[in-house]
Amino acid sequence: MENVIFLDEVDSTNNYLKSRCAELPDGSVVTARTQTAGRGRRGHGWTASEDMLPLSILLKRPPECENLTARVGLAVCEAIESVCKTTAAIKWANDIIIRSRKVCGILCESVFFGDCVNVIVGIGVNVSQSAEFFAAADLPNAGSLLMLTGEVPERGHLLKRIAEHVKIRAATPFSECYDEYKRRLINLNKQVRLISANGERTAVAVDIAPNGFLVCRDENGEFEVSSGEVSVRGVDGYL
Ligand code: BTN
Repeated sequence: MENVIFLDEVDSTNNYLKSRCAELPDGSVVTARTQTAGRGRRGHGWTASEDMLPLSILLKRPPECENLTARVGLAVCEAIESVCKTTAAIKWANDIIIRSRKVCGILCESVFFGDCVNVIVGIGVNVSQSAEFFAAADLPNAGSLLMLTGEVPERGHLLKRIAEHVKIRAATPFSECYDEYKRRLINLNKQVRLISANGERTAVAVDIAPNGFLVCRDENGEFEVSSGEVSVRGVDGYL
């Protein structure tokens, strides 16, 4: 695969691409053996040891940026299934779930360069940490591929498959990903807690809108929420 940068250590693979956006070509991929100040969604950290695979992909002027994050989730499921004997699902909007545990998180960030929007797709896969690691880190909902599938894919191979699938899905309109995305979603027809800056409310997740928003219903009727504003949990816990 062309344009893959392998680093020994980096603060954040997303930061690395962000600061080199102008000079690097479209489709550049960066990964590192360790990531010291990785970033997750909603201000969480994502420090990565050698047991994890942090990577970022630079997409220059991708078509249909709006729901790219959902399509990346789909691509990561496909890539994981191509290297491990397992079935991967999606917790809206793009947490990757195997056997009820989160094995991968995705952070897409837009970088504006003149009138051009570039997107940095950041992906962190839990590859081979132990159950004890997650217990000590107080991450009861997380798991690694090793724990959940019994397999440890070769990191370079997994990286290549993820990058390939992300590039394909990023070039495919959401309308063509819609059925497959929906098939993998674990939230539909379940009661969910919708957590936003304004507080929390409970509703039933009933559908995905054509733009990727989650369609919910409560006693006042149907409404849509976007992943930028709301995170979703099950009523009794994570799922
Ligand atoms: C989440 O909170 O679920 C998203 C986690 C995203 C982590 C990845 S690791 C590679 C890339 N670099 C970063 O700093 N973050 C993303």
